[in-house]
Amino acid sequence: MSEQLVAKIQRLKRERNAVILAHNYQLPEVQDVADYVGDSFELSRKAAATDAEVIVFCGVHFMAESAFILAPHKTVLLPERLAGCPLAETITEDDLRRKKREYPEATVVCYVNSSAAVKAESDICCTSSNAVQVVNSLPSKQVLFVPDANLAHWVAGQTDKEIIPWRGHCVTHHRVTEEDVRRAREAVPGAVIAVHPECRPEVAARADFVGSTSALLRFARETDHREIVVGTEMGILHRMKKENPHKKFYLLSPGLICPNMKMTTLDKVARALERLEPRITVPEGTRLRAAAALEKMLAVT
Ligand code: 13P
Repeated sequence: MSEQLVAKIQRLKRERNAVILAHNYQLPEVQDVADYVGDSFELSRKAAATDAEVIVFCGVHFMAESAFILAPHKTVLLPERLAGCPLAETITEDDLRRKKREYPEATVVCYVNSSAAVKAESDICCTSSNAVQVVNSLPSKQVLFVPDANLAHWVAGQTDKEIIPWRGHCVTHHRVTEEDVRRAREAVPGAVIAVHPECRPEVAARADFVGSTSALLRFARETDHREIVVGTEMGILHRMKKENPHKKFYLLSPGLICPNMKMTTLDKVARALERLEPRITVPEGTRLRAAAALEKMLAVT
């Protein structure tokens, strides 16, 4: 059944002149059918550069929105329309406008995990793989960093800028506690612990490595350690195990599962290609302003 479904997806992909992009947190079978699997930054670059007419974005809403913002003449499909990002929903454009009035001198850096409307209100975007570089590229001393407070804290530790955070969190990463780190050190004494910067500051401070999903994958390939405890969404383990069959991977907390990332199935990918739905678009005025913020990010990194 799954083989037939994969064959159907491949056929439809050719017929539609489509490319399938999948985030590192997607279900294993979805990652395996994709043309590119990557972190938010890599996938934004692919979306901006593709020759395909249709982009099937296996990820969550803000990712497909970013693809449309960068490639407005393409058909951008999100196989499950309801796959959202609770972190992105912690701030609205009105919240951001109010915050900007409080800090009129600050430059606004917005993490890509945000709506198109919030990107449109921001000066520049960043992802977890380039956040420090983006912040350090800015002329202003004060930076309003939205919406992830944990990522803001991690960036603040690596820059001289004054970082003013928003109060958002990724519920999945925020669930990991210091106690999980302590338990992991006890349970797998020789292992290294590698976590995503969306984890709490006290978790990141106790980890051996902190990085974006692709940085974590690189770390897993390059480290001499053979046992690695991973503090990010469980979907990443698929590629880690595939790329490092001789190493052992453990999840830092059983709570590291993002229900939104798991909504995309092969069935939904096939249906999206068949019907060319659900399509993601952004009103042109908002898109142009959001594109400026995303393109500035692509230019500095
Ligand atoms: P990456 O850019 O590291 O892939 O992170 C995306 C994300 O949503 C993390 O929760």
